[in-house]
Amino acid sequence: KYPARVKIIDVGPRDGLQNEKQAVPASVKIELVQRLQDAGLKEIEVTSFVSPKWVPQMADNAEVMAGIARDSGVLYSVLTPNLKGFEAAVASRPDEIVVFGAASEAFSQKNINCSIAESIERFAPVVQAALDAGIAVRGAISCTVGCPYEGEIAPEKVGYVARLMKDIGVQRVDVADTIGVGTPIKVQKALEATLAHFGIDQVSGHFHDTYGQALSNTLAALELGVWNFQSSVAGLGGCPYAKGATGNVATEDVVYLLQGMGIETGIDLDKLIDAGQFISDHLGRPTQSRVAKALLTK
Ligand code: HMG
Ligand code: MG
Repeated sequence: KYPARVKIIDVGPRDGLQNEKQAVPASVKIELVQRLQDAGLKEIEVTSFVSPKWVPQMADNAEVMAGIARDSGVLYSVLTPNLKGFEAAVASRPDEIVVFGAASEAFSQKNINCSIAESIERFAPVVQAALDAGIAVRGAISCTVGCPYEGEIAPEKVGYVARLMKDIGVQRVDVADTIGVGTPIKVQKALEATLAHFGIDQVSGHFHDTYGQALSNTLAALELGVWNFQSSVAGLGGCPYAKGATGNVATEDVVYLLQGMGIETGIDLDKLIDAGQFISDHLGRPTQSRVAKALLTK
């Protein structure tokens, strides 16, 4: 019933750190990426090429991308909201770029300063340029179950954005519960609305854990056959335009869940916990991973 293996994209260096108030040196981000790949992560979302006025923590994007020691078996992705971001990103040779939209009009305005329709118009040339350059393209859809400004989001809105992304050439999509309000049935509806336009191998679950529902939602996604997930080591993060939202579900916790179910991840949990401790120590905060806390105090 469940997939035999799961691929995890660790988004800690990007989603996890983008909202961090203290300056995190590029060298620390580079070491975090190294530790994640050493732990067996095959996909890492490294940074974003967005306006440094909007998201100062990602201003060192080019430096971080230049500093990572690439492993040929690892896919390194970056966020690009527009052509300006894409052009800057290309110079740093990402394997994949991510255009990010929302199923909520209000969130689209707050996050990327344009409507959903305008965002798609902006993304279209970025997607085309990336595909022409041989760079893969992922789309992220925020607020697929709930929005901090609009409240509950209907699955039809998710399907609408998924279709628009498909139409402009986006190859795969993330169904994101940005503020972590989702529960299993609602998350399944958002995923199903997306699966009407993308194949099962092209849809991933991106769950924030604000309400403690992310692992339940992960299981609900696995039940549909979804086998790609995004999570942050140590449960880092939050979105600057989603007040109060906590980090992604901790990668350690997802790996523990999957290992317990006999689902293959290719990830070494001990090394992953070490990576989580490295960044938590640097930030001066305890890890948000329940599994790391439990295993470290055993
Ligand atoms: P804007 O102000 O509408 O853009 O922002 P603009 O084109 O009018 O340009 C304004 C200024 O920004 C100009 O500079 C541009 O050069 C500069 P100025 O002339 O004032 O000096 N600019 C840029 N600089 C660097 N890189 C760029 C870029 N573009 C313009 N790419 C924009 C529009 C999209 C740029 C802005 O709203 C922005 O950067 N937003 C950032 C949003 C963001 O990073 N949010 C967090 C990531 S999304 C997320 O976390 C959700 C996700 O995890 C899934 C989930 O959980 O939901 C993916
Ligand atoms: Mg996110």
